[in-house]
Amino acid sequence: MLVTIVGAGAMARGIATVALAGGHTVRLIDRTVSKAALLADELRQAAPDGDIRQSDAIAVENADLVVLALPYPAGRAVVTDYGTALTGSVLVDICNPVDFATFDGLVVPPGTSAAEQLAADAPPGVPVVKAFNTTFARTLLEGRVAGKPLDVFLAGDDEDGKGAVADLAASGGLRPLDVGPLRRARELEGFQFLHMAAQERLALNWSSAIKILP
Ligand SMILES: NC(=O)c1ccc[n+]([C@@H]2O[C@H](COP(=O)([O-])OP(=O)(O)OC[C@H]3O[C@@H](n4cnc5c(N)ncnc54)[C@H](OP(=O)(O)O)[C@@H]3O)[C@@H](O)[C@H]2O)c1
Repeated sequence: MLVTIVGAGAMARGIATVALAGGHTVRLIDRTVSKAALLADELRQAAPDGDIRQSDAIAVENADLVVLALPYPAGRAVVTDYGTALTGSVLVDICNPVDFATFDGLVVPPGTSAAEQLAADAPPGVPVVKAFNTTFARTLLEGRVAGKPLDVFLAGDDEDGKGAVADLAASGGLRPLDVGPLRRARELEGFQFLHMAAQERLALNWSSAIKILP
């Protein structure tokens, strides 16, 4: 698959690492072109056989997946700006819409989720899949915590779209778990807020994972 990642921060690095491990092509786009170039160089050193591209502009055409590795408000702006250029791709929403002013809740109102807001902004027919919001960036580099593969919870209304994101996770050595329709993103976002808020209290150092064990 061609996996376009918008953003060049910690999660872009983590998801690109997973995608390259799975043999996928990665295309990086960032508003700071030099930052995307630096990340591309870093990824090429870590994965010399990987197919890593970088684009200087809005270049999402032909992408199988477009991953929004951006803060929630920036992701919404990108979806609006890219518009119909997203047609044919699956939009992967990884964000945690935390209210960073208070760190006491989310900026989305109860009864919805960032993922559903992004889906409302997206052009008709572009599916949104919530994924990777519960996996901390640094854990994606190894793909494992305590010797166990990371769980990647997937919520979405489009089965093919979820299947493509599940393939990304599984081919990169992670365990995809389909938890239902896009509205389950509400719980995934709340769940991860709890995980984030507990980091300091439980001295987890942003290296923990949420995992379902049978
Ligand atoms: N970090 C984690 O462990 C983690 C885990 C799960 C989910 N997430 C979610 O993943 C997303 C990315 O997080 P991150 O940790 O990768 O953040 P990050 O390291 O700060 O990277 C954010 C990226 O977004 C870009 N950006 C910021 N504001 C922008 C704007 N207004 N318009 C366009 N681009 C903008 C930044 O570009 P510049 O460099 O040009 O500013 C940077 O490339 C967030 O939604 C976060 O909630 C994070």
